[in-house]
Amino acid sequence: MELLDKLNWRYAAKAMNGEKVSEEKIANIIEAARLAPTSSGLQPFEIIVVKNQAIKEAIKPVAWNQSMITDCSHLLVFAAWDTYTEDRINKMFDLTNEVRGFKNEGWENYRQMLLGSYPQQDAEENFNHAAKQAYIAFSAAIIAAAYEGVDSTPIEGFDPVEVDKILGLREKGLRSCVLLPIGYRDTEKDWLVNLQKVRKSTEDLVTVIE
Ligand SMILES: Cc1cc2nc3c(=O)[nH]c(=O)nc-3n(C[C@H](O)[C@H](O)[C@H](O)COP(=O)(O)O)c2cc1C
Repeated sequence: MELLDKLNWRYAAKAMNGEKVSEEKIANIIEAARLAPTSSGLQPFEIIVVKNQAIKEAIKPVAWNQSMITDCSHLLVFAAWDTYTEDRINKMFDLTNEVRGFKNEGWENYRQMLLGSYPQQDAEENFNHAAKQAYIAFSAAIIAAAYEGVDSTPIEGFDPVEVDKILGLREKGLRSCVLLPIGYRDTEKDWLVNLQKVRKSTEDLVTVIE
C-alpha cells in the first residue's frame, strides 16, 4: 500500500541539509493538520510557521541544540490554547453556524454544556486537553509530510517556556507544546538514516476482542 511505503520511508531525521521545501508542499502539510479531528471540533491550538533563520537560531539552544531546528526549511511550532474560555468556545460554535447556515438546537445545547464545564476548569487541565488536540494535528502533519516525500522530526526536546518567550506566545494565550522541523534529510550526516525501523510486533500492540 502506497501510504504504508511512505510511512516506512519516514523516520525522525536527525540531520537536515537546509534545502527548501516548496510552499505548495508546506501548504499541503498544514492543510492536513487543519483537517485533523479535534474534541468538539474546537481546534484549540495554532501553528506557527517559522521561516526566519534568526528565530530558528534563537530557538536551537533552548531545543537541546538539535541541528534540525536550524537546518530545516520550515519549523512548525504547535501551540495550544492556555485554557478554554467562553469566547474561544463561542467563536468555534458561531463559525459552525455561519459555515452551515443554520442553528441547531442540539448543537446549541452542546455549546451550553461546554460553556458550563471547560471555562470553570483549572487552566492547566484545559491546556493539557488542548495540547492533546494539537498532537492529533501534529501527527497528521507528520504523515502528510511523508506523503509529500518530505522529512520531518517530531521534537519534544525543548524548553517550552523559552520558546514561548521567543515567539511571544503567552501574550496570545498560547503555549508551545511540540515542534516539527520540516526539510530534507542529510544522508551523509544522519546516523539514523540507514538503521532499521524498530517497532513492537502487532501482537504486542493490538488485542482483538471477538
Ligand atoms: C512527541 C515526540 C517527541 C519527540 N522528540 C524528539 C526529539 O526531541 N528529538 C529527536 O531527535 N527525536 C524526537 N522524537 C523522535 C522519536 O524518537 C522517534 O519518532 C521514535 O524513536 C521512532 O523512530 P522513527 O520516527 O524514526 O520511526 C520524538 C517523537 C515524538 C513522537
